[in-house]
This record gives sequence, structure tokens and C-alpha cells, in this order.
Amino acid sequence: MKFGYFDDSKREYVITSPRTPYPWINYLGTQGFFSLISNTAGGYCFYKDARLRRITRYRYNNVPIDMGGRYFYINDNGCIWNPGWSPVKTELDSYECRHGMGYTVITGSKNGLKACATFFVPQNYDGEVQQLVLTNESSVAKTFSLFSFAEWCLWDAQDDCTNFQRNFSTGRVEIKDSTIYHKTEYRDRRNHFAFYTVNDTIDGYDTDRDSFIGLYNGFNDPQAVVAGKANNSFADGWSPIASHYKRITLAPGESKTLVFILGYVEMPAHKKFEADGKTINKEKALAMIDKYNTPEKVAAGLAELKSAWDSLLGILNVNTPDDKVDRMVNIWNQYQCMVTFNLSRSASYFESGIGRGMGFRDSNQDILGFVHQIPDRARERLIDLAATQLPDGGCYHQYQPLTKKGNSDIGGDFSDDPLWMILSVASYIKETGDWSILDENVPYDNDESKAKPMLDHLNASFYHIVNNLGPHGLPLAMRADWNDCINLSCFSDTPGESFQTYTNPKFKAEGGYSKVAESVMVATLFTYVGPNFVGILEHKGLKDEAAKAQAEIDKMKANIMASAWDGDWFLRAYDANGEKMGSKECEEGQIFIEPQGFAIMSDVGKDQGADLRTLKAIDERLNTKFGLVLNNPAFTKYYIQYGEISTYPGGYKENAGIFTHNNAWIICAAAYAGQGDQAFKYYSEIAPAFTEETSDIHKTEPYVYGQMIGGKDAGADIGMQGDHFGQGKNSWLTGTAAWNMVAISQYILGIKPDFDGLSVDPSIPSAWDGFKATRKFRGGVYNITIKNPSHVCKGVKSMTVDGKAVEGNVVPVMGAGEHEVEIVLG
Ligand code: BGC
Ligand code: NOJ
Repeated sequence: MKFGYFDDSKREYVITSPRTPYPWINYLGTQGFFSLISNTAGGYCFYKDARLRRITRYRYNNVPIDMGGRYFYINDNGCIWNPGWSPVKTELDSYECRHGMGYTVITGSKNGLKACATFFVPQNYDGEVQQLVLTNESSVAKTFSLFSFAEWCLWDAQDDCTNFQRNFSTGRVEIKDSTIYHKTEYRDRRNHFAFYTVNDTIDGYDTDRDSFIGLYNGFNDPQAVVAGKANNSFADGWSPIASHYKRITLAPGESKTLVFILGYVEMPAHKKFEADGKTINKEKALAMIDKYNTPEKVAAGLAELKSAWDSLLGILNVNTPDDKVDRMVNIWNQYQCMVTFNLSRSASYFESGIGRGMGFRDSNQDILGFVHQIPDRARERLIDLAATQLPDGGCYHQYQPLTKKGNSDIGGDFSDDPLWMILSVASYIKETGDWSILDENVPYDNDESKAKPMLDHLNASFYHIVNNLGPHGLPLAMRADWNDCINLSCFSDTPGESFQTYTNPKFKAEGGYSKVAESVMVATLFTYVGPNFVGILEHKGLKDEAAKAQAEIDKMKANIMASAWDGDWFLRAYDANGEKMGSKECEEGQIFIEPQGFAIMSDVGKDQGADLRTLKAIDERLNTKFGLVLNNPAFTKYYIQYGEISTYPGGYKENAGIFTHNNAWIICAAAYAGQGDQAFKYYSEIAPAFTEETSDIHKTEPYVYGQMIGGKDAGADIGMQGDHFGQGKNSWLTGTAAWNMVAISQYILGIKPDFDGLSVDPSIPSAWDGFKATRKFRGGVYNITIKNPSHVCKGVKSMTVDGKAVEGNVVPVMGAGEHEVEIVLG
């Protein structure tokens, strides 16, 4: 069942029912100011950091689920409704929500009155613009009351929802003309405020939540709206809000457009106030308001946003035999990559914005799917990330975007972290040819006095693995590797201990974690990532270093085959007792997905047929119609030696859920191994556009990936097997966005930037006759035509570039202008 449809020509998903199976959201803003907006206008906004600089309030895990947002209320002679249906939930005569690239348009109508609200964050602007067009579609004049609504958050989202003894006394506002200023703590230590304005006169306002809503009412029946009139309340402590009130009369056929702006302003300390020392200096705010206070200026802002997306999405564009692939590659997957690049795993409808900042491994992987869009921003991010690395190559696992400082609550010692940086820096160089990033001086531990060139950071990353091997010569597992829930040094038997940060004191003497537990996943990641480091060293002319690094990779491959090949697939780990994890010998959790793809893509054991055997085992044991489960059989009891993984019921999250992120690694591996049909099968099991038809089962947005889909074991524990199989969760902020962008564009369609050119090596469904693609790359435009007359999956038989035959499958860097690339598979 569907709840809308794709409008590809406008790059929009059009939602036709407000009762989606879960709130379906969009993100506004890509630079400093961000908003989350659901299909019923729920959500919130923040500046840069969802924890430290939250502007409007949102109540997570509420009942009903999506409570709090920017709401317009209409009281039309006692009939009260919202254009987005919620929170009043009056049945509308028509409803539509269009989520587009950086904007959302919600339209509702009731009793002949239509309200169309467009929400967006303009380019280079710290505010959300909301244009409301009200149209009287009836044949009689209409007089009604309109109320806007936003609820301020007192900046620090964590403090805001815990520290009521203080917060109920600190809220402050200022009101001037049609603008309500939120200036909590502005008098003392904060040099920033927010405002909510409308470009017209108003007939009243409310700034105190209890006066507007009423202590015993809800968002669905605010007492001011029910009364049809504002109270002109002035918040002093308690909960400041901003609500404009206006009486409007429209003749039949008449329209009225109002532009609201919810903005954020930072002021230099010495310019914060007017001469009286307490009134906000509004100079900057007024200039911001002036920028978008007419429908014409709004139209120009929207056009600018659209053209920014035209150029971003113009870098890679494909035309394949499958519309759904085109829709994902050309529009939604790239869009999601921008969002994950900006937000890492911080703020979504599943991530509260409080728990996490920018993750080291997460953000490095996000770059893989984003780097072609705005390489300069990727570069800046790489440097920020590297600055949170420690001199020994270990890394802070997370940092706060506002401070850019490593988060010491979480600390480091995640065994995979350093490797992702080699991969992301290499992908940046491959995209841009900008080798100068390696010479950039980057601090360790945010300490300028410890700055070293980026190349040194890569070296530290590589050798952090080499210098931390266990008894089988495989990398130590430490607190966790990519799988946060395999915690082999934790042995937790006390509720509340964080599996990610708690390590059992019994390992204290060994330096904090087991020196026996080893991760095969990190071993295979090392052999996959390592050649990038070697390539970089070779390019720098550092032959000896390159040979030395290559020898380490070869040694690791040998160690994997000697101790981590289980006969039909690769083991997952050795636990702290030295026992195998992810082996046929195990009772549960016999096979895990994570190490397999990287092993295949680094040719570990290829000469013995390890690649195809592993793919076969994956297909037999892990594949389902909704994607590949992470492990099988699911754990049905708590294995203290494994940690968090076995705390999840089978079929969910890391315990045999369909973790879409590492499905991508298998898609890449199957494509790499020449199994284009199989790669495409796995791709189409999880790519959102393909799950649209089963939105009632899938529940989350059909235009973006979620982190997890309920696996085949979901519900088995309680005899409900099958009921939650296929149900998506944790949509938007997942490494799947970047990795499936890589999987489809670089492995299946096979267009992959390399150090010295653009490699083109498709691995497609054999049924395809071919496809076309346009790729902007290092200043040139490459129009690529792939022909597949013999219906193979993989194999470049011949290639011409601008009419001339070129050996192999790497298109050389041709420079500016358009270049025609023709490839015949066979
Ligand atoms: C989740 C992981 C997540 C981790 C972050 C775990 O509970 O299952 O998916 O990465 O928490 O701290
Ligand atoms: C989500 C986390 O953000 C990511 O860092 C981790 O790799 C996966 N969960 C798997 O545990």
C-alpha cells in the first residue's frame, strides 16, 4: 500500500494522506540552520548543533507520536483546523504534502478555504521561511482567525528537558511590531537570540505557552484558538512561545499571502543591546527579515535553492532501464547523502539530537557518498575529523559540531575508527585530484602544538591497526568495531552500564580491553582500505613505505586465511576467551555479514574460491525478501562475552536485523565478483523506491534509507514471527545513504573515481541492454554510454573516449569540456 507517489520531474515525494504509517519527514537547510519537518509540520529547528543550540522545542517519544512543530491554526467560525491536519486533526477536504529538495509544501483545505504553506531554509540564511497562502475558494466572503505557533527551546536541548527548577524561571521574550524575540539568557552569557516574525500587522500575539494553550488543553485545542482571539501574553519564565494572531477577511476567490520567518541571530558581545543596555539590538535581525519579507523575495529564495540543487544533482545523472534506480541515484539517495553529511547521526525522528554529535566512523563514511557534491566541504570535514585523532592513531569516537572538540564521555578505542579516515581521504583525492590535502597541517587531539601533515594522520591510522594485533595476528576488537554492539571486553551484568563505554575491570591490567579478542571485520576492512594508503604513498614517491605497508596487508590476508576462514565464509571474531564467533561451530550467530564483503573485495582467499563460496552462503543464510540479515541464527539468549548484540530480541538491530548499511557492502562485493544480477537483487530488496509499494509494512519514508528493517526472526521470541519482518526503523541518518550511493553508482553502474582517472566497470543485471550516465569529474563532463549487446553482467570489452580507443576501463582525466565515453560490455 502506498501513501503518496514520486513526482520525479519536480524531485518531490507527494504524500496524499496525513496518516502515514510513521511521520514522514524532510530536512530543511544544508549549511548552519537546520529544520526537521514532518508531513504534518511537526519537528524543530536548531543552529549547527542539535544539542547545544536547539531553537524550537520538540517532544520525542510523545503520544501521539509527532507532537510539537510549527503550526498554523485556523478558526473559521468555530471550525478549527491546521493545513497539515495535525495537531487539531479536523478531517480536511483535501490534504497534500510535497517534500522536495530542501523545502516542504503542505496544503490543506476546509469548507472552501485553502491554506498552502511552503517551508524552506534559503541558501546562506539562518532561518526558516514559511510562506502561507490563504485562498477563499468558496462563493461567499470568509472571515476567520489565523494563529501561528512555535515553541522556543531554551537552547541546550538536554538541559531544556531536565532542569525545570531553573528553566521555568529563565524564559524571556521581547515583542516589537510583528516580531517576537526569544532572548532567554541573552542578558548574561549568550550572544544569540531567535525571532519569529510575519510580514504584516497583527491583531494580537501570545508568548506564554500556558496562556496560549491552557494548562489543561493540548496542541489540538489551544484555548486562544478555541476562543478565536489571542491574549497578548508576555512570557516571563515558564515556557516562552511565539504565536501571531490575525483576523482575516477574504472575498470569494481572493488570496492573501503571509510570510513568516523563524530566524537565528548571533551578535558580537559589544553590540548586543541598544543604548538602554537591555533592549535587543535588532539591526541584524531586521536585515534578515528584510531579505524575505515579500512573496517576490520568497520566490527568488526558492529559485536560488532550486538552482543550487540543480547543480548539485547535475554532477551525476543516470538513465537506466529502471526508473526506480534513476529516482534513487539522481534524486533521493544523493539528497540523503547531503543530510547524513551534515547531521551525521545527531538529529532525526529516531536520534534525539542530544545523544550524539558527529561520529568519527559515521562522518568519514558519509563523505564517500557526498564528496562529489561539494568537495570543499568534504575537505573541511576531513580536517575537523582528523583533528580529533590522537597521536597514536586512535580517535575520539564523536565530537560536537559546535565546539569541534572530541567528546570525552565516549572517548575512543573503537577498533575500526582510524581506517575509515584512510578511505574517506582517498575518496576525496580520487574525486578531486587535490593531493595537497596530504600536506595540510592538522592537530592531534585538537592541540595545535601537536599538528602534523594529514599524511601523518593516515600513517597513524594504518599503523594503529598494525600495532594492535591479537594472538592470531588479527586486529584487536577493543570496545567495539563497526558493530557497536559487539563488545568483547564488556562482560556486563549490571543494568545501566553502557556497552559502548564500559569495559570490564578484569581487563584493566591489559590496558582497558582484552588483548585476546580480535575482530575479523577490522582485519578485512584493513585489507580493503589498505591499498588506498599504499596508492597514496606510491603517488608521493614513498616507495619503501608503500612496500612496507603492502607487506602488512599481505600478512593480514594470510592471517585471515590461516585463522579466520571458516570453510564457507569468514569468521566474525575471536572473543576474549579465544573462542570463535561467527563460525559453524557456534550454536547461534554462526554467520555474520560484516567481514564478508570486504574480504571478497580485497580478494582474500580468492584463489581458493572463497569469494563465490561466501556469496553463496550469504544468499542461503542471510538473504530475505526485505534484505540481508546481519547474522544467523539470531541470538536467543544473552551472551555476556558478546555484549549488547545479544540484548536485542532476534530480528532487531544488530541481532539479525536487516542492517541496510552492511547490505551495501554485500551489494558492492557481489558486483565486484561479477554477480551483477545478485548485486541488483540485494539492491532492490532495500532501496526505498522499491519498497514504496509496501509502505504499510515498511512504515518509514519510501524516499530514504533507514538504518534497520525488521529481520526474518523479528517477533519470534514472543511467537509473533513475521509480524514485524520488513518494518523499517531509524530512517534518514544511516551510513546506508553513503554506502548504497557507492554500491549503485560505483559498483553496479561502475562509475568510480580513481587516483588517475574515472574508472568505468559496470556490474549490472544481465537483462539490461545498457545505460547512460553523465558524470562531471575534475572539470570535465563525461557522457557515458554503456552497451550490453551480449547481456553479460560484467566485463568491459572495449572503450572509446571521444572516438578514440582506450585500453582498459579507466577514462583518463581529459580536462574541461564534454567528453563522449562509449563502452561495450561482453
Ligand atoms: C545501537 C547501535 C548504535 C549504538 C550507538 C546501540 O544501542 O544498537 O546501532 O550505533 O547504540 O551508541
Ligand atoms: C549505528 C552507528 O551510528 C554506527 O556507527 C554503527 O557502525 C552501526 N550503528 C552499527 O552498530
